[in-house]
Amino acid sequence: MALLPLLFFPDPRLNTVAKPVTAVDHRIRTLVADMLQTMYEAKGIGLAATQVDVHERLIVIDVSEQRDQAVVLINPQLVWTSPETHRNEEGCLSVPGIYDGVERFDAVTVSALDADGKACVIQADGLLAVCIQHEMDHLMGKVFVEYLSPLKRNRIKKKMLKAQREEAR
Ligand code: NI
Repeated sequence: MALLPLLFFPDPRLNTVAKPVTAVDHRIRTLVADMLQTMYEAKGIGLAATQVDVHERLIVIDVSEQRDQAVVLINPQLVWTSPETHRNEEGCLSVPGIYDGVERFDAVTVSALDADGKACVIQADGLLAVCIQHEMDHLMGKVFVEYLSPLKRNRIKKKMLKAQREEAR
């Protein structure tokens, strides 16, 4: 297993639209294991392949307290969304230190392949539902801060670029 380097906002590669995974083979299983390790190490609750510069439809999530309930979704598709929505505070490993409210469906049903390539259907609500929507946005090339006002987004962009410059010194 290996830790994978993350892309950070406003890296334009985060705006890439991911392609479907064509086969759940050894390469994909290795990627899943590496993404899980990277997510746990970074203390994140979700990670999309987009964030490690792999533009294929694959996300890993673990919203459990014990960090032992990994959810792997390959080629996820939203098949149902609740009529109710809510504003939730979100953060992202690609936008460290920034938290803000985003409107999301309260519950969703997703069909996908699991880590073994088996078809599965997941009904999610609460934090898991929010996380699935956040990670699926990454696969469409969308980072959560892009829902915020242009003013806020620009402020965040400047802050991130400044931090990245200081880190590079
Ligand atoms: Ni994110």
